[in-house]
Amino acid sequence: MYQKFFGLRESPFNVNPDPRYLFLTRQIQEALAALTYGIQNRKGFILLTGEVGTGKTTLLNRLLGWLRGQRVATAYIFNSRLSVNDLFDLMLAEFEIQCESREKSQIVLRLNQWLLDRYRAGETAVLIIDEAQNLSPDVLEEIRLLTNLETSTEKLLQIVLTGQPELEEKLKSPQLRQLRQRITLRCRTAPLTLEETFGYVTERLRIAGANCEPIFSKEAIEMVHTYSCGIPRVVNLLCEHSMINAYVDSVRPVPAHLVEEVAREFQLDEIAPVAGAGFTAAGQAANTQSLLENLDELLGRLRQMGAAAARERKS
Ligand SMILES: Nc1ncnc2c1ncn2[C@@H]1O[C@H](COP(=O)(O)OP(=O)(O)OP(=O)(O)O)[C@@H](O)[C@H]1O
Ligand SMILES: [Mg+2]
Repeated sequence: MYQKFFGLRESPFNVNPDPRYLFLTRQIQEALAALTYGIQNRKGFILLTGEVGTGKTTLLNRLLGWLRGQRVATAYIFNSRLSVNDLFDLMLAEFEIQCESREKSQIVLRLNQWLLDRYRAGETAVLIIDEAQNLSPDVLEEIRLLTNLETSTEKLLQIVLTGQPELEEKLKSPQLRQLRQRITLRCRTAPLTLEETFGYVTERLRIAGANCEPIFSKEAIEMVHTYSCGIPRVVNLLCEHSMINAYVDSVRPVPAHLVEEVAREFQLDEIAPVAGAGFTAAGQAANTQSLLENLDELLGRLRQMGAAAARERKS
């Protein structure tokens, strides 16, 4: 409905991590480069962290697409409440390794043999674990042991461990120091700057089929940035709902006041309202300061929304 009104082929602001929509900020480019470099050069253990909703899973999906294109064997695990047995079962299933035994020692042996076969054939294998901030210490310890699968010169299994910043905190605990020491590369995702928010919105609209006619006014995008603190998931939420409201009101481009209404509807105005501080140097500085102060609260709320959605999915 509203897509047609704006001349689009599809919905530009879906909240699923569709890699076609990946917008390459400098930070995302660096992360992608670190991930591909680390895997190609068998660096073994890479850590990707970033705040909730800043594009980690979308980035991993892009990486997965690239790896599959290169015919690299991959296992993608995103159930962070898994047990040690689940970890091994999922790895075997994802890598399509046959193993008669249910004994962990036998499974590791079989895995090692399979990895060596691949190594001899000049191939590698990649284990990607998303949402790792909730993994139990037992599972993290098993992941550490997996980094021991190596020849005298190279790691046989490349591991990408991904999670929210709590993961970094977790890895600082003395119990996990051995795991931390094995991390060879680290990369991050981060909230968008104002300039990046403009680029992000424009790029998503372009991919969804927008022509040159503006869909959002400049002030509306500034407002989106203010209320979202540059977090892409919130940018999507604000843009999607503002476009629906603009369609209902038959207005184009989407004006700033409609973004503000949506922000109020989602109670974002209680946490990030410095809209209109202007874009003088002083106004910009005040905005940045306020965004940083409000980010924690917005992230807390996003996490609650995520947890509630997960509970709903389970029930
Ligand atoms: N760089 C980006 N380019 C395009 N879309 C993005 C980007 N970053 C985030 N998004 C969009 O924002 C939403 C949230 O992204 P994603 O799920 O990847 O975040 P996340 O960091 O994995 O979040 P969580 O910590 O909750 O797992 C998705 O709709 C995604 O497509
Ligand atoms: Mg994610």
